[in-house]
Amino acid sequence: MSEKRRILTGITTSGTPHLGNYVGAVRPAIAASRRADAESFYFLADYHALIKTGDPARVQRSTLEIAATWLACGLDPDKVFFYRQSDIPEIPELTWLLTCVTAKGLLNRAHAYKAAVDANAGQDPDAGVTAGLYMYPVLMAADILIFGAHEVPVGRDQIQHIEMARDIGQRFNHLYADELAQKGVSFTLPEARIDEQVATLPGLDGRKMSKSYNNTIPLFDPPAKLRSAIMGIVTDSRAPGEAKDPDASHIFSIYQAFATPDETAAMRAAFAAGIGWGDAKQKLYERIETELAPLRERYEALVSRPERIEELLLAGADKARARSRPFVDALRWAAGIRRLTDMPAAVASKEDAGAALPQLKSYRENDAKFYFKLTTGDGIVLLQSRAFESPKDAGRLAAALVETGDAPAAQAALLREVAADEQALEVDAIAAALAALKADKLARQAQKPQPGS
Ligand code: TRP
Repeated sequence: MSEKRRILTGITTSGTPHLGNYVGAVRPAIAASRRADAESFYFLADYHALIKTGDPARVQRSTLEIAATWLACGLDPDKVFFYRQSDIPEIPELTWLLTCVTAKGLLNRAHAYKAAVDANAGQDPDAGVTAGLYMYPVLMAADILIFGAHEVPVGRDQIQHIEMARDIGQRFNHLYADELAQKGVSFTLPEARIDEQVATLPGLDGRKMSKSYNNTIPLFDPPAKLRSAIMGIVTDSRAPGEAKDPDASHIFSIYQAFATPDETAAMRAAFAAGIGWGDAKQKLYERIETELAPLRERYEALVSRPERIEELLLAGADKARARSRPFVDALRWAAGIRRLTDMPAAVASKEDAGAALPQLKSYRENDAKFYFKLTTGDGIVLLQSRAFESPKDAGRLAAALVETGDAPAAQAALLREVAADEQALEVDAIAAALAALKADKLARQAQKPQPGS
């Protein structure tokens, strides 16, 4: 059976989706989700959102908007795993298991944490830094490792987080190797996938479109707002009629992200022929609107029925938890979070060997007669019986001998009757061995349901 490749994408629910998210993440990920040789996981990282914002209404609103965006853009929840992080309690559970094997030094080196410390130059280096920001990579490692993702499509700023997930997973695999092997599980080590083809869109000011630059164009604003945002994109001061370099133009790069190759070639020619900025922006608006209008309609229908999305997300969580629950149970066990009655195989057999029970074995010799012998758990012979004509006699007397395990008076007489050489008997060792066998027999009887009880 060949395992499908698992591809996992997380989206922090702290903002409103913009054109850059659509072109750089949503559209390519949905295209990838249609691959038959892959299993796709898309989740709303609302626990991560708490690290970035303290505004509860925003986290909730963003969760709705992002879920509706993915669905409107064509994500099919029946074909993928689509869920909300906070609906998977195994994720915070795993986060703690991972936290305990994560080197603090590893987290000290995380770019986001270091940037926050650097920004505090001259004050307490940790001023305003929450433990949540510090722990961000561990929570993200849990997101990824819990579903055994092979690939995580991310932007360059996230590569370090994927490497940390690998480090942390590897550490756990190594530390608990024997226990994980007993459960037949281990962490799959993920790889970051950077898609070079995918465009990063310039924002209103020409820098990469990003919420942190406050230069975004919201994806599903009404058409009039979309149009006025596009009209506000910075250009140079070349007049209509002057030739323009498409490769130096933000208008052109955004256009290219939406257009077919033919349309792009036509726009390139229009630039050379001196299209005015106003006309170029109008064409850009029309092209984007053609692609977005049907999606916006679906988006609006979805957002107006949050109960439907809620239902989908809960169903998605059920589907995902069918994987995460048994996996985390095995990981907990590996780390020693276990029922007290649940003894690992290796340890149980070690203890058996240390305090192994004496044995009473019946057998037949070449002389066609029947014998039994009593040995210690280590195989030292304590008692060799005389020969018996029938296996029944040998068995009956062997059983009777065990019964004297708690009846020393009867034992001496019986020993004399069964022993091959009564002179050689080590009576104390024999008494101890028989006492152990009798105790074991009583213990077994107590465990079995008694007839009639
Ligand atoms: N850190 C990611 C971001 O800011 C969001 C995220 C959280 C994520 N958990 C993830 C992405 C797991 C990929 C895999 O973009």
